[in-house]
Formats: sequence, structure tokens, C-alpha cells
Amino acid sequence: MTGLREKYLTAIADAGDEAALEGVRLAALGKKGEVSLRMRGLGAMTPEERQTAGPALNALKDEIATALAEARARLADAALDARVAGQWSDITLDPRPLPQGTIHPVSQAMEEISAIFADLGFSVAEGPQVESDWYNFDALNIPPEHPARQTMDTFYMARAEGDNRPPHVLRTHTSPVQIRHMQDYGVPCRVIAPGRVYRADYDQTHTPMFHQVEGLAIDRDISMANLKWVLEEFCRAFFEVDGVELKFRASHFPFTEPSAEVDIRCSWAGGQLKIGEGDDWLEILGSGMVHPKVLAAAGIDPEQWQGFAFGMGIDRLAMLKYGIPDLRAFFESDLRWLRHYGFSALDVPTLQAGLSR
Ligand code: PHE
Repeated sequence: MTGLREKYLTAIADAGDEAALEGVRLAALGKKGEVSLRMRGLGAMTPEERQTAGPALNALKDEIATALAEARARLADAALDARVAGQWSDITLDPRPLPQGTIHPVSQAMEEISAIFADLGFSVAEGPQVESDWYNFDALNIPPEHPARQTMDTFYMARAEGDNRPPHVLRTHTSPVQIRHMQDYGVPCRVIAPGRVYRADYDQTHTPMFHQVEGLAIDRDISMANLKWVLEEFCRAFFEVDGVELKFRASHFPFTEPSAEVDIRCSWAGGQLKIGEGDDWLEILGSGMVHPKVLAAAGIDPEQWQGFAFGMGIDRLAMLKYGIPDLRAFFESDLRWLRHYGFSALDVPTLQAGLSR
């Protein structure tokens, strides 16, 4: 009996797979298995013999059955481990190509600006980049002899020979969109107009093409106080600092009366620009109450309606916010620059999620 026990427990321990184990089971406990035959042999024994051999055989049978079950579970586990090991995949490897393109800081800033003003109830208006001189100048109270026409370094379009009408211009600012919007949609209105503008100028802070965003809000009782609140609200959101401080400085634009240029408090300590602290002031925009003549030029009755307008340089805002030192690099299409200053295409700026992360 001990011999049997040794033999089968060793065979079970040595079985390398389910089939070998099944062979051991048949050899011991199968119909013609050694243990089964011994049990059948109990009938031929004397009652005394049976009394010791019976329980011993039963115990042996149970022990072998238990060992078989354990071995089967062990083999099943090992089989599963082997299968899983074969199916393992390296999830640390990115199966997609690395993203190459980035969102240009100007596009990013435009998206941020639009998101902020949308939250304040402004929609987006558009106008052409090749503009008539009437929309770019006259309608904005800049008559032909006005010095602003010279100081703006305007690009003029060519006219066909013999065509003596005043030439079209590349718009020098987004302000003509004020006129077009009021003509097309009337008042009251609340819009921003982001887009490209052109002036013949080129140095560290000027490029011949740059971007502005115009703001226009007209209603029956809109005042400078509304302008101030809107601009403060905008700067707080755009620069993502609570303590922004703005200074309204009396100025002059032909198309606003009164007019104000707005400076933002900043510090240049250690050559690092910080918005909202320090003793320096940086000019960021022009603004004012829309001139009655401008309203009239757009067909709006200045006795009934009034409101504010402002214009800011988007590139300049982006330079300030993202610490970009030279404006010229914005438009050189240098891939290293774009990778460094660009934004992920998947990070859409929203006020809820944060504008720039
Ligand atoms: N158009 C002005 C500029 O380009 C900015 C401005 C817009 C000022 C609206 C006042 C009101 O400098």
C-alpha cells in the first residue's frame, strides 16, 4: 500500500500536462486502475483483513484524487500564465506617430480672445483685408488730408491705368469692420473682429502684416464705464492673473471721442515680464466712445445710439503672455520656433478648462 501511494503521488507530481495527468488517473483510479482493482479485491478478503485494508484503500483513493485535483489546477494556472505571457503587449510604446504640427501662438491667442469675449456676449464679425479707402479711412472720420493716412504707412493696391478712383488699401486696422458690421446688421450690437492688418513697418516689434482684434458695443446707454469693465474683465481672463491693473490714458483717435489708450501694470524685474505687478506700464490697446460721425457714416442715428470701440494687437498680446521676444519670428515659419512656442491641437482653449495649459 505504501508502495502504491509513493508511486502515484510521484507520478502526479511529475506529470507535465493534462494528458499525462489523465494517464496517471486511469492507471490508479480508472476502471482497471491499480487502486480500483485492489478495492474490488476487498470482497475476497476475510472480514478482519477487510477492516484494515478497506479504510486504508479508501484513504489512499481520496489522497490520490485530491492530489490529482491540485495538480490539475496547478497545470491550468501554468497554462494560463504561458498564454498570457504570449499575448503580452508593450503599452508603453506609442503606436501612433508623434504629433508634428502645432497651433501657432497667434491662432491660440485668437481662440482665447474669442472664448473670453463669447463669454461676455460678443460674437465674431469679419471684413475684407483688401479694403476701400472709404471704409478704412473716410467712414472712420479720417478725411483724405488727415495725417493718420500718412502715419499709418499704408499699402496701396494698384489701379488699372486711367482709373482715377482712389486705390484700395490693405486695411491698416480692423476698425473698418465696425462700419461694415453696423451697415449689415444694425444696432444694438456687441462684436469683436479679429484679423490680419497691414502697415509698412519692420523691426523687432513690427511686421508688415500683423493681427488686431476690434471690439464694438453699441446700445442706447453704453458708457466708458462699460468699456473699462469689459477690458479689465478681458485682461484678467487673458493673462490669467486676478490682480491686473489698467490705466486709462487720454489719447486721440479720429474715430472715437473721448479716446483712451490703455496701459497694463507690469514688471520687468530680472528681464522677466510679469503682468499685474511692478512699477512699469505697458500700452496694450486703443479705445474710446465711437465718434458720432462714425455712427452716422454707418447709417446709425448718433442721437439714439452710442457705445465703445477698442482695438488691440493680438501678436503683441501673445508676445506678452507667452514671453516671446521678437515679433518677426512669428512669421518666419521656422519649425524649431513653431515646435517651441506652438500649442497642442488637442488643447482647445475654454474658460472652464483653462485657456492655456
Ligand atoms: N484702430 C486703432 C489702431 O489701429 C485702434 C482703435 C480701435 C482705437 C478702436 C480706438 C478704437 O491703432
